[in-house]
Amino acid sequence: MVQGVANWNTGETQEWLQQYVDDWVAFYRKHINDGSVATYIPELQKADPNDLGIAIIGKNGLSVRSGDTEIPFTLQSISKAITFIVACMDRGVSYMLDTVDVEPTGEAFNSIMHLEMKPVKKPLNPFNNAGAITVTSTLPGETSDERLEPVFQLLETMLGYRPELNVDVYESERDSSTRNRAIGYYLLEMDFLESDLDITLETYFKQCSIDVSIDDLARIGMILANDGMDPKNGEEIIPRQVARITKVLMLTCGMYDASGKFATYVGIPAKSGVSGGILAAVPPRVREEIMPFTDGCGIGVYGPALGDKGNSIAGIRLLRHIATQWDLSIF
Ligand code: DON
Repeated sequence: MVQGVANWNTGETQEWLQQYVDDWVAFYRKHINDGSVATYIPELQKADPNDLGIAIIGKNGLSVRSGDTEIPFTLQSISKAITFIVACMDRGVSYMLDTVDVEPTGEAFNSIMHLEMKPVKKPLNPFNNAGAITVTSTLPGETSDERLEPVFQLLETMLGYRPELNVDVYESERDSSTRNRAIGYYLLEMDFLESDLDITLETYFKQCSIDVSIDDLARIGMILANDGMDPKNGEEIIPRQVARITKVLMLTCGMYDASGKFATYVGIPAKSGVSGGILAAVPPRVREEIMPFTDGCGIGVYGPALGDKGNSIAGIRLLRHIATQWDLSIF
C-alpha cells in the first residue's frame, strides 16, 4: 500500500513515488543473479546482466523513472505486438484473425510442437515465433525494408522520433537463426506463409533488432492502455479494436509459457523480449483507495538477465511487486 499519496498531482506526491520506485528497483537488483543474459544470439550476450531500469508514464503525463534508464536495447519479441498491430491496420482484423489464431500454446516461444501435435489450420497466436513469422509474411512490400516501413512509421508516430535498426544485433540474429529458419520451412510446408520465406525471415530479424528505450516502451504501453489513443492530443493512433485484441494477446500469450503465472501474480497485459525488455499496458481502473495511475499507464522495463522462460527475471519480480503495491491488476 502506498502511504501518503493524498495530493496526487503535486510535486510532493511525485517525490513519494520516486522514493518508492527507487527503493523497489534497488531491492530487485539483488534478484538479477537468479537469471542470465540470452546467449543464443551472440550480440545479446554483450548486455550487462546487472542492469535494471523502469519507466512509468501515466495518461496525464505523470512519469516515474528509476534505475538504468538510459540503456538502449532491441525490441526482440516485443516487435511481435507492433507487427501484429500494423498487419491488423493494413489487412483488417478479421483477415488477420483468419491468418493466425489467438490461443496460448503453453510452450516456449520458439516451439512448433503445437503445429505438429494438433491438426491446426493456422499458427496458434501471433506472439510465438511461428505465429509472428506468419504475421510478418503478410506485411506488404517487396523488400524487408519496404515491409518494415509501416512498422517504423507506427513507432515514429507513437514515440515522436524514428527508432533505428541495430545492425550488429540484426546480423547476429540472422547468423544464428537455425531455429527460426526451421520454423520458417515448417510454415512454408504447411502453406501458412503469404510471401517469400527469405524476405519474411529477413524482415523478422530486422523487426527484432530495432533499438528502443524503457521510455519508448512506457509510451507505447500508455497508448495501448488508452485504447490506442494518444492522450496528449486525442489522436487515434491504433484503432480501439486492434488495441483491445493486442492487450488480450499480451495477457494470454505475452510471456509465453509463463503467461498464466504472470496473469495471476501481476495481472497486467505485457509483452517481453529476450533482450530483457518488457512492455506493459495498465488500463484505467476504479479503486476505493487512492492509488497511483488509476487512469492507466504504460510501463517499460529493462533487465537483460532472463529467467528460464526467456523473460527478464528481476523485471518480472519488480512488476509483480509494483502491481501488488499499487493494485494494478486488471482482475
Ligand atoms: O526469434 C527470436 O529468436 C528472437 N529474435 C526473439 C525472441 C524473443 O524475444 C523471445 N522472447 N522472450
